[in-house]
Amino acid sequence: MEIFVKLMLVFSLFAFVECSCNGTELRLVSRAFINVSGFNSSDFNCSNSPITKIVLSSKNLTGTVSWVFLRNISQLQVINLSNNSLTGSVPGWFWSIQTLVELNLSKNRFGGTIGFEPRSDKAPSSSIQRLNVSNNRFTKLVHLSVFPNLTVLDLSHNDLKLLPSGFTNRTKLQHLDISSCNISGNSKPISVLHSLRHLDVSNNHMNGTFPSDFPPLVPSLKFLNISFNNFTGLIASDKVQKFGKSAFIHAGKFNSSKPPTFHIKPQSINPPHQTSQSPKPIKKQRPKSKTKPLVLGFALGSIFIVVAMVVFMYCMCRKREMARRNKWAISKPIQLPFKIEKSGPFSFETESGTSWVADIREPSSAPVVMFEKPLMNLTFKDLIAATSHFGKESLLAEGRCGPVYTAVLPGELHVAIKVLEHARNVDHDAAVAIFEELSKLKHPNLLPISGYCIAGKEKLVLYEFMANGDLHRWLHELPTGETNVEDWSTDTWEHHNDGESGPHISSPEKMEWRTRHRIAVGIARGLAYLHHAQSKPVVHGHLVPSNILLADDFEPRIADFGLSQDRVGGTPEADVYGFGVVLVELLTGKSGSDETVGWVRRLVKEGLGANALDPRLGLDADSVSEMVESLRVGYLCTAEPPGKRPTMQQVLGLLKDIHPFTAVSN
Ligand SMILES: *[C@@H]1O[C@H](CO)[C@@H](O)[C@H](O)[C@H]1NC(C)=O
Ligand SMILES: *[C@@H]1O[C@H](CO)[C@@H](O)[C@H](O)[C@H]1NC(C)=O
Ligand SMILES: *[C@@H]1O[C@H](CO)[C@@H](O)[C@H](O)[C@H]1NC(C)=O
Ligand SMILES: *[C@@H]1O[C@H](CO)[C@@H](O)[C@H](O)[C@H]1NC(C)=O
Ligand SMILES: *[C@@H]1O[C@H](CO)[C@@H](O)[C@H](O)[C@H]1NC(C)=O
Ligand SMILES: *[C@@H]1O[C@H](CO)[C@@H](O)[C@H](O)[C@H]1NC(C)=O
Ligand SMILES: *[C@@H]1O[C@H](CO)[C@@H](O)[C@H](O)[C@H]1NC(C)=O
Ligand SMILES: *[C@@H]1O[C@H](CO)[C@@H](O)[C@H](O)[C@H]1NC(C)=O
Ligand SMILES: *[C@@H]1O[C@H](CO)[C@@H](O)[C@H](O)[C@H]1NC(C)=O
Ligand SMILES: *[C@@H]1O[C@H](CO)[C@@H](O)[C@H](O)[C@H]1NC(C)=O
Ligand SMILES: *[C@@H]1O[C@H](CO)[C@@H](O)[C@H](O)[C@H]1NC(C)=O
Ligand SMILES: *[C@@H]1O[C@H](CO)[C@@H](O)[C@H](O)[C@H]1NC(C)=O
Repeated sequence: MEIFVKLMLVFSLFAFVECSCNGTELRLVSRAFINVSGFNSSDFNCSNSPITKIVLSSKNLTGTVSWVFLRNISQLQVINLSNNSLTGSVPGWFWSIQTLVELNLSKNRFGGTIGFEPRSDKAPSSSIQRLNVSNNRFTKLVHLSVFPNLTVLDLSHNDLKLLPSGFTNRTKLQHLDISSCNISGNSKPISVLHSLRHLDVSNNHMNGTFPSDFPPLVPSLKFLNISFNNFTGLIASDKVQKFGKSAFIHAGKFNSSKPPTFHIKPQSINPPHQTSQSPKPIKKQRPKSKTKPLVLGFALGSIFIVVAMVVFMYCMCRKREMARRNKWAISKPIQLPFKIEKSGPFSFETESGTSWVADIREPSSAPVVMFEKPLMNLTFKDLIAATSHFGKESLLAEGRCGPVYTAVLPGELHVAIKVLEHARNVDHDAAVAIFEELSKLKHPNLLPISGYCIAGKEKLVLYEFMANGDLHRWLHELPTGETNVEDWSTDTWEHHNDGESGPHISSPEKMEWRTRHRIAVGIARGLAYLHHAQSKPVVHGHLVPSNILLADDFEPRIADFGLSQDRVGGTPEADVYGFGVVLVELLTGKSGSDETVGWVRRLVKEGLGANALDPRLGLDADSVSEMVESLRVGYLCTAEPPGKRPTMQQVLGLLKDIHPFTAVSN
C-alpha cells in the first residue's frame, strides 16, 4: 500500500516536470529513489541539460537506493547523499562509473564493501577523486588500486577492522581519515603516502612506531591525529607544538620518561601575562594581599617577585594543562584563565573541523538556567571561561548530535556541556518547554539535564559529569586491566593535584559478567521508566552505548533521552531494538553492527548462543548459561517485526530473573 502511494506520487511528479526537464534522466533518478522515503524529484533543477549532480544531503531520506538506475545517467559527476538514513550496500560496479568525481555517502547506514575486486588490467578503475563514506557501517574496503585518482578519502566511523591495502602509488592522496574504524594492525602501509596534508588515524587499535611507520611529517602536513591507538616511539616536542597535544592523547606507549611536551616554549601556548589578568585567579597560589606592602618598598625586589610569580603561575598552569589531557580520567579539570572577546558572534571550532556559532552580542546576555540551583546566576560568559573558550582541551567527545565539553563551574560543579547541533531550528520557547519537561524525568538510571543555555540558535545542555565515561568507550576502546592514564602522566608531580581520586575507567570488573549484567539491568530499568512511568511513553530515539554513561559505581545512566532528532519518528519498539543491540554488545564485546546482530540471531536460533559470547569474560558454567539466556533476550528485542518485540517492562523482568542477586541490590 505504501509503495503504491509512493509510486503514485513519483508518477504525478513526473507528469508535472517532464515538460521542461530531461525526462529520461529524471525518471531514472526517480526510479533509483523509488524505495526511498522523503525523496522529492522537485529537488532537481529543471533545465534541459543532463543531470550532473545528485545532491540530496540532509533530506531525511530513509530506505534503499536502487543503484542500477543511476548507471545510465551519462554525465553524473557528483553524488551527495550525506546526512540521511539510507541503508543497504553499494554494488561493486557502481564505484567505477566513469564520470563520477565526487561521492559523499557520509552519515548514513550504508554497509557492505567499498570498491570492487580488481580483477585484471582491463578492469575499469574508479574515477572518483573525493570519497567520503564516513559515519556508516561499511565493513571492508577492497583495494585502493581501483581508486587511482583519489585526493580525499574519508573512511572514518565505519567498522573496517583492517587497514585498507593498496596505499602504494596513491600519490595524489592529500586527505586521509581512517579514524574510529576499529582498525588493528601496523601503520606502516600508510608511510608511503607522501602528499598528505591531513592524516587522522585516531581511535583505532593500530600499532607501529611513531614517526617511522608514518608518512614523512613534512611541513605541508597540516593536520595529524594519532590519538587513542597502540603506537610506540618518540614524540618530539615540535610535533606536539605543531599538531597540538590532543593529536597524541592515549596514542600508545612512548618511551620518553620525560614527556617532550614539557619543553614547549612558553609563548606558544599560554602567554604568562594572560594568567595575571585572569578573571578567575587560580586559588591558593596567590599570596597577594599580604606581600603587597612589603613589595612596595623594594622596586627591584618587586620586579623579581612579579617575575617569579608569573613564572610560578605559568608552571602551575602548564602542570594543570598536562593533567587535563586525561579528559574523562581526571575527575575535575581545572579551568584555565581565558580572555573573553568583548562582543559576539562567537565562533567555536571543534576537533573534527566543524564549527558552531553563538550569535549573540553580549556573552552575559544568555543566561544558564540550572534547574536545581536557580540562584546560580551563570551566563554563557561563564561557560566560555570554564571551557577555555570551548577549546579543544575541554572537548570530551564529538557525538552524533554535536560536541561535548567538560567544565567546572563556580561552586565546584563539574558538568558536561553538549551543543545540540540538531536543534538549531527549534525555536527558543519550544526548546525551553522541552528542556523543562525533560528536567522532570528523574530516575537513578537516567542522566537528566541539569541545566541549559540558549545562545542565539545554539542550544547547550548541561549534564552532571560522569567520570567513567560512556559504555562504548568502556567496552570497546579501553584496554582491559589498565587504567585510563597516559603513560607520561605517571610523572609524580602531575598526580598531586588536590588529592583527586584517580580514574576508574578500566577496572578489572569489566571482565566480570556480573558487572555487565548489572549494567544491562540498569539500562533496562531506565528505559522502562521512560516508556512506562509517564502518562505517555517518552521515546529515547537513539539508544547506543555512547549515550549510556557510567557513574562512579558503574551504574549506567542513560543520556540524551528526549532530545533525539528522530524523537517524533521514533517508537518504543525502536528503543527496544536499540536495547537489544546494546545487550548484544555487552555479551559479545563486538560492536553492534547489523552484521553482528544478524550473526548473533543466527547462532541463538541454532542453539549455539554460547559461541557468540565475549571470550574475554570469565566463562564458567553458571555464567555461560546466564549469558546465553540474556542473549536470548537480545534476540527477542531485535525481532524484525516491531510488534513481536517485548516491552521494556517485560525485558526488565526477564533480565532480573536471570541473575536475581544483582537485581535486588537496588
Ligand atoms: C536526455 O538524457 C538522455 C539519456 O542521457 C539522452 O539520451 C538525451 O539526449 C537527453 N535529452 C536531452 C534533450 O538532452
Ligand atoms: C522496492 O521495494 C520492494 C519491496 O521491498 C521491492 O519488491 C522492489 O523490487 C524494490 N524496487 C526497486 C526498484 O528496487
Ligand atoms: C516537493 O518539493 C516541492 C517544492 O520544494 C513541494 O512543493 C512539494 O510539496 C514537495 N513534495 C513532497 C511530496 O514533499
Ligand atoms: C538550480 O539552478 C540555479 C541556477 O542554475 C541554482 O542557483 C540553484 O542552486 C539550483 N538548485 C538546485 C536545487 O540545484
Ligand atoms: C542533518 O540533517 C538534519 C535533518 O535531517 C538537519 O537538521 C541537520 O542540520 C543536518 N546536519 C548537517 C550537518 O547538515
Ligand atoms: C542502461 O542502458 C543500457 C544500454 O543503453 C540498457 O540496456 C539498460 O537496460 C539500461 N539500464 C537501465 C536500468 O535503464
Ligand atoms: C555534501 O553535503 C555535505 C553535508 O550537507 C556538505 O558538507 C558538502 O559540502 C556537500 N558536498 C557537495 C559537493 O555538495
Ligand atoms: C585519473 O586522472 C588522470 C589525469 O587526470 C586521467 O587521465 C585518468 O583518466 C583518470 N583515471 C580515471 C580512472 O578516471
Ligand atoms: C606503481 O606504479 C608503478 C609505475 O606506474 C608501477 O610500475 C607499479 O607496479 C605500481 N605499483 C603498484 C603496487 O601498483
Ligand atoms: C600489531 O597488531 C597486529 C594485529 O593486532 C598483531 O598481529 C601484531 O603482532 C602487532 N604488532 C606488534 C609489533 O605489536
Ligand atoms: C595494545 O597492544 C597490546 C599488546 O599487543 C594489547 O595487549 C592491547 O590489547 C592493545 N591495546 C589496544 C587498545 O588495542
Ligand atoms: C523524517 O522522516 C520521518 C519519516 O520518515 C518523519 O517522521 C520525521 O518527522 C522527519 N523528520 C524531519 C526533520 O523532517
